[in-house]
Amino acid sequence: MTESGGTFSHRPVLLDEVLGLTGRDGERFWVDCTLGGAGHAMAILERAGDQARLLGLDRDDSAIAAATARLEAVAGDRAIVVRSRFSQVDEVVQERQYGRLVRGRYRVDGLIADIGVSSEQIDRAERGFSYGRPGPLDMRMGSEGETARELIERLSVNDLATLLWRYGEVPRAVRVAAAMKEALAAGEAETTTELARAIEKAVGSGAKRSHNPATLPFQALRIAVNDELGELERLLDQLPELLDMGGVGILITFHSLEDRMVKQRFAELTQGPVLPRGLPITGGRRANFELAERGAGATEREKGENSRARSARIRAIRRIAWEA
Ligand SMILES: C[S@@+](CC[C@H](N)C(=O)[O-])C[C@H]1O[C@@H](n2cnc3c(N)ncnc32)[C@H](O)[C@@H]1O
Repeated sequence: MTESGGTFSHRPVLLDEVLGLTGRDGERFWVDCTLGGAGHAMAILERAGDQARLLGLDRDDSAIAAATARLEAVAGDRAIVVRSRFSQVDEVVQERQYGRLVRGRYRVDGLIADIGVSSEQIDRAERGFSYGRPGPLDMRMGSEGETARELIERLSVNDLATLLWRYGEVPRAVRVAAAMKEALAAGEAETTTELARAIEKAVGSGAKRSHNPATLPFQALRIAVNDELGELERLLDQLPELLDMGGVGILITFHSLEDRMVKQRFAELTQGPVLPRGLPITGGRRANFELAERGAGATEREKGENSRARSARIRAIRRIAWEA
């Protein structure tokens, strides 16, 4: 399915896998933490039927505008759209009393987060995510916070190098960090393409390289500018208590740092309580959640049709008990 209504263009990844995790029947409450072009959201609503509802979040104004128009047309007041970071999803759900009141809090049947940038964000040069076409050194998904340019200017070479290594495993990170800062100070990195050229100059163009030398530095900057790992961590903290019995939490990630975080947290949630060593085990050690999806990637066919799907992984948990 390709979503291209209005001017917003983004094709949802792993859609069959997502729909395979959604139920069909009755009144169901869904949360989409990353609406984007509402591709997943609309497919979930369509699949779940007339009684299903969806609360959708995004931090990006253009995604909010596109998703609102699309969801209004197909779901009317069954869909609510809120501009918010997903690290605040629990606050949004409880404040709006969205879902079912169970055990003292509002809970839902499904939550999905398809984390990362949308094709729309990457493709619009003025957002500053792309090193292929000239744009400002911005990279913010929302409108608040520090831009990539401000971040590079504020950090020392060493701190910038640490960031590049931590979020991008950028080879020769100190050299790249120094080149970035020097180019910026000399007025030679006013745009994304100029910054990319400065990086290439610092590390050499390398005929055998499989990707542009700016790929990993740009990824690292984007993760830092948007606090992507902090956002994910806080979402994972809130997810378990948002799920009603049978409720499913679906996470789609695009690089190994995020996937590792999701994998570890889901393993903890599905392994049951850790008892002190030597304690006699009476009556089993049941976890509150089971793994519903263990990290599948896209099929070769989907990867061929949509290059964004190449690195996507899907993991999911389902609530199966209340108290372990
Ligand atoms: C990959 S796109 C989602 C595409 C969507 N699933 C679809 O099918 O159209 C990711 C979206 O998540 C949003 N996003 C990323 N991090 C976010 C965060 N921490 N809070 C809220 N939205 C976020 C981005 O602005 C972007 O619109």
